[in-house]
Amino acid sequence: MISLPLSQPFKSIYILYFIFKLPLQIVSLLVYYLPSSLRPIPEWKLRTCVVAPVLRSFFDYVEITGDQGFKQPTREKAKERLALVQPTDDELYSGILASPTIKPVSLTGLWDSNATAQSGSDKPRVVLHFPGGGFTYAYDPYQSSQGVSQIMKHMRGARTLFAQYRLATVPNGRFPAAIQDALTFYNYVLRSGVDPRDVILLGDSAGGNIVIALLRYLETSHKLPLPGAVMLWSPWVNITEDVPGQYTGCHNLGIDYVTTSVLQVGAQKYIPEGGITTEIAPFLSPLRYPFKTNVPIFVHAGAAEVFYDEIKDFVHAMSEIQGNRMRFHPTKFAPHDILLSHGVVGFTEQAEAAMKDAADYLDGAST
Ligand SMILES: *[C@@H]1O[C@H](CO)[C@@H](O)[C@H](O)[C@H]1NC(C)=O
Ligand SMILES: *[C@@H]1O[C@H](CO)[C@@H](O)[C@H](O)[C@H]1NC(C)=O
Repeated sequence: MISLPLSQPFKSIYILYFIFKLPLQIVSLLVYYLPSSLRPIPEWKLRTCVVAPVLRSFFDYVEITGDQGFKQPTREKAKERLALVQPTDDELYSGILASPTIKPVSLTGLWDSNATAQSGSDKPRVVLHFPGGGFTYAYDPYQSSQGVSQIMKHMRGARTLFAQYRLATVPNGRFPAAIQDALTFYNYVLRSGVDPRDVILLGDSAGGNIVIALLRYLETSHKLPLPGAVMLWSPWVNITEDVPGQYTGCHNLGIDYVTTSVLQVGAQKYIPEGGITTEIAPFLSPLRYPFKTNVPIFVHAGAAEVFYDEIKDFVHAMSEIQGNRMRFHPTKFAPHDILLSHGVVGFTEQAEAAMKDAADYLDGAST
């Protein structure tokens, strides 16, 4: 058995192999999927058909090389967009967030590039964004926040703070590290003077799981006031120890760019060493533990993603609870997490339409 990630010199050899293989893979996919009848979904653009398998290879690459892509925003590059975020109050982290080994840490966030221009408006709304990455990968914050801002401009008058939490691969990065970080970021925004009702928590994929966990924590701990709204894009709602078993027979497997292997690695790294206890199960699998909340929740899912059925069931389970307000916006044929991936997979129009829907829904829900 080869242990992953690879050590040198095998890592360098693999990277070279990957770099040489990539153009060949792209060319052969371009040719193969030219006739739309051969496409995994005939309605897909050629671009989507090529990008989905390339992203699957990229996930293998990350797993094999151990390259986590972790790039913290720096003062030199981020300039006035940089947010230096300190945990201020130990009392905030109680119950499942208190851990003998995992402690709150200092973090950096990145405001969207229009932050300065928009902060002049009289009632600034803040979108606090926890990006996905399967708990093991961090996207380039400058690049990703740009793609997200393109969609976020439909959330009128809002500034977005791109909040990279600890990955599960760093020392002491397992659950509840990411939830501690989410709380630290949320507290930072509130302490800057923003009305909690003007804060929208946004999470996609693994980030969606974190946002749901944060909301549950806020609802049950009463440590901080509730935010105005929650937006979830392709949230991971059922983290379990048996990922391959869970998705056996899932019809979107092999179509979507998400693989069970990437989910399996993420789950293994994120789940605490002691396993899933009854105390933390609700924070890992909100699908199985729906809860009451006063905060309106917008949920987006792509109908071609591996998570689709579970997300639909999550929305259903949450809607069954009296008083909960949920809006579900599925996008036909869309793969996973088009908030982050729209540009590369060719679903920008659909992501914009979903965000317009979210903006209208949340405007109505807050009055
Ligand atoms: C940033 O602001 C400019 C000028 O107001 C606007 O044209 C542009 O669309 C904004 N960009 C984003 C990503 O919101
Ligand atoms: C969640 O995952 C578990 C474990 O694989 C599975 O048994 C269950 O059916 C899934 N969905 C729900 C609603 O629990």
